[in-house]
Amino acid sequence: MSWSLFALTVTRTWVLRSKMPVDRYLYQLRLSDDVLLDVTARFQAEMGKGLARDTSPTAAVKMLPSFVRSLPDGSEKGDFLALDLGGSQFHIHWVKEFDDGKQSSQLESKSYPTPKEVMQGNGAELFDYIADCLSDFMETKNLKHKKLPLGFTFSFPCKQTKLEEGVLLAWTKHFRVRGVQDTDVVSSLHRALQKHQDIDVDVLALVNDTVGTMMTCGYDDQRCEVGLIIGTGTNACYMEEMRHIDLVEGDEGRMCINTEWGAFGDDGALDDLRTEFDRELDLGSLNPGKQLFEKMISSLYLGELVRLILLKMTKEGLLFNGKVSTALLTKGKIEMKHVSAMEKYKEGLSNTKEILTELKLFPSEEDCVAVQHVCAVVSSRSAKLCAAALAAILTRLRENKQLLRMRTTVGIDGGLYKTHPKFAGRLHRAVGRLVPACEVRFLRSRGGSGRGAAVVAAVARRLAAQRRRLHTALAALLLPPAILWELRDKMRAELEHGLKRETQAQATVKMLPTFVRGTPDGTEKGKFLALDLGGTNFRVLLVKIKSGRRRSVQMYNKIFAIPLEIMQGTGEELFDHIVQCLADFLEYMGIKGARLPLGFTFSFPCRQASIDKGTLVGWTKGFKATDCEGEDVVDMLREAIRRRNEFDLDIVAVVNDTVGTMMTCGYEDPNCEIGLIAGTGTNVCYMEDMKNIEIVEGNEGKMCINTEWGAFGDNGCIDYIRTKYDREVDEGSLNPGKQRYEKMTSGMYLGEIVRQILIDLTKQGLLFRGHISESLRKKGIFETKFLSQIERDRLALPQVRHVLRQLGLDSTCEDSIIVKEVCAAVSTRAARLCGAGLAAVVEKKRENQGVERLQITVGADGTLYKLHPHFSRILQETVKELAPQCDVSFMLSEDGSGKGAALITAVAKRLHNVGQK
Ligand code: BG6
Ligand code: BG6
Ligand code: GLC
Ligand code: GLC
Repeated sequence: MSWSLFALTVTRTWVLRSKMPVDRYLYQLRLSDDVLLDVTARFQAEMGKGLARDTSPTAAVKMLPSFVRSLPDGSEKGDFLALDLGGSQFHIHWVKEFDDGKQSSQLESKSYPTPKEVMQGNGAELFDYIADCLSDFMETKNLKHKKLPLGFTFSFPCKQTKLEEGVLLAWTKHFRVRGVQDTDVVSSLHRALQKHQDIDVDVLALVNDTVGTMMTCGYDDQRCEVGLIIGTGTNACYMEEMRHIDLVEGDEGRMCINTEWGAFGDDGALDDLRTEFDRELDLGSLNPGKQLFEKMISSLYLGELVRLILLKMTKEGLLFNGKVSTALLTKGKIEMKHVSAMEKYKEGLSNTKEILTELKLFPSEEDCVAVQHVCAVVSSRSAKLCAAALAAILTRLRENKQLLRMRTTVGIDGGLYKTHPKFAGRLHRAVGRLVPACEVRFLRSRGGSGRGAAVVAAVARRLAAQRRRLHTALAALLLPPAILWELRDKMRAELEHGLKRETQAQATVKMLPTFVRGTPDGTEKGKFLALDLGGTNFRVLLVKIKSGRRRSVQMYNKIFAIPLEIMQGTGEELFDHIVQCLADFLEYMGIKGARLPLGFTFSFPCRQASIDKGTLVGWTKGFKATDCEGEDVVDMLREAIRRRNEFDLDIVAVVNDTVGTMMTCGYEDPNCEIGLIAGTGTNVCYMEDMKNIEIVEGNEGKMCINTEWGAFGDNGCIDYIRTKYDREVDEGSLNPGKQRYEKMTSGMYLGEIVRQILIDLTKQGLLFRGHISESLRKKGIFETKFLSQIERDRLALPQVRHVLRQLGLDSTCEDSIIVKEVCAAVSTRAARLCGAGLAAVVEKKRENQGVERLQITVGADGTLYKLHPHFSRILQETVKELAPQCDVSFMLSEDGSGKGAALITAVAKRLHNVGQK
């Protein structure tokens, strides 16, 4: 019989026989999956406590923010030093990260002893010792003349407020150095280093070994977002969403949390699972009552647990014929390496026998099998407990990402995991059972946590530089108050130019009279058709208006598509298409026979001589049909109807969308005398005193003016605020040089500005790893709705990344933060600019009325206004700031401008009928 088979048989018989008293000892150490799931749930609760503001001060599991916000992205380069203190060995590394596109690096390391006097002496001695070792290392590597950044792996719980600072909360494991607790270890290290005139290092980052491990592994696998140590101590870190970390300002992105899970149970949460051996071990440790979970798991304690169990069993006569040796009575005599060796079943019982014999225990074969079994039970409990806590972290990550299934990588290090023959397998299997929804890759750290610490230092350096460059790029989009006031005044001056007879021909803001002389008064009634062309959607509507006591408006509408080739084909094709849609609608509503009056919302600049005549001044936005400019669009529509020769309609009014919007809102609120569109394009209309409109006869009453403010700046007056991105967008547009204000403020262009900035940042190497993808080259990929999604508050970055992925942009977490910032800068500028324009209009209204304070309502519409999470708020704040004497209410047009167009048609029809009589 081979040894292993023999061992197996003996184990079985022993297990059978162990129904005897022996099993009493081990029973409590065996954990079923149900118990483990319960541990997972308990740890989940502990994590929640550690993160929340109210409960964190008293939480056992500290959940310490690490100020590490990103994983390595491969762009780290240069020479770094790393200190690695707190595991079984003290290492110093010299890390060279190469910029060769292959993410290669070179590590030169040296281990230094950590004598007991150092681990349990006083603080000054400890840091002097570290500094001396570093000095020695730099001497041997010939680095003394260089100024090098240093990452410090310090594997103890530290409270950090930034990356380069950490206050030690408590010593753990085999360290207990006086005078260090509650002080910043980085300062202590600096002080010790200052004594060495000949070395010049900059401690850029303090990291826990779990964090260092995650970063080391993250270098090889971008998916790595958990760091796990199962060595002298045990602990884990993972990337948490910033919005869940109450103790750190800000909601954006993620930050690595050092859980310090070793302290799980310090508040009694695991008391039911702790055995008499755990309690005895704890009492004999350097830190009784502390790190209770760690003491059930890590290598510093495993051997001791085994010893305590064997001692007890021997005393009870179950082993070694009841003969207790001095060795068995001695603390620390059984170490993790012994446990590992004894569990090498392939080697049968020989290792076990040898080890026990060395301990003067003179084992029988049966003793050997029993001891092996004790080792297996103890170490497998350790692996399972680790798995249970890890399962809680994995579940949290998966829930944060709102995924049903998740693939992720856990970076892992530590002597127990790496050298114990069975540990890794047990851990992996248990994790597989406990969190079947997670597919986990366990990646062993190559070269320890030092490289990761160096990477953190490198990232810190890179991010600081990146931030500086990003701010420089976005600085051009910032509009300080002084500039906004100036813009308000410029807009105001342009409004005047457009109204005055002498200047109006050259005016860029055209101030087109609309021949709409009043807002609705509630007497409008009848059935009308309306067309709404020029925004995101082309609609045909049937509007039924009732007056008097049954005053109401009923609407039926249908959206039709206008294909790009029609928008940019010939005028005839465009109008034929419109009439085709009209015909479909009439058919659909069953009203083809009725010759209904029609109001035409046509959202482009038209010069009007009456309410039913409108000559297109020039196409804007995405339209460019030939043979329309300079033509009367009402005539073109009439002709198209005639060409089709299927039905007849009475086209009564042509109105701009701003005017339609003002009327829609005016129906509800008579104080609404301004219409604003912030959508595909941007524009404003308002009721102007006739006496100020020099190009229309008469001085009585008011008329609505379609400002066509989108053209503000076409004379160059706002060029000083335009950036190179604006110029690029303009040059790539259908109407270069035209609608300059619109191109900085409206939905059709904001995404393009964002895209231009992203391209620039990518070229500078600040985004997408410097790679300009095919998608990013595509014009128009960023529609307003995407910007609105990206900028939604509290949107987790994975979701931003999801939006970007939909657009074909593969982003890192870092990238998505930058993209969001760019979007915010662009949309904020747009809202502020729009607000400055609107302030000019309300101020003009106030002066017209000659009042100290003006109360006025603005009817507003457009996808940017309606869908963007911040645009309308910033716009309103800006108006308040720049027109402090006006109380402006904003009313959202819920029904679009079609309703307003129908109301205008009703009034025009009534006046027309009166005229005919
Ligand atoms: C090493 C890391 O590989 O593992 C250390 O570089 C870490 O930072 C250590 O503390 C943990 O394992 P052990 O077994 O040495 O405590
Ligand atoms: C709609 C109006 O609600 O908004 C249209 O009915 C208007 O007349 C449009 O043109 C403007 O917004 P957008 O975002 O569709 O251009
Ligand atoms: C101890 C330390 C912790 C460290 C772990 C592994 O639990 O408190 O900071 O990560 O050991 O070394
Ligand atoms: C463009 C048009 C204008 C319209 C605005 C909003 O600026 O020229 O007429 O009101 O877009 O749709």
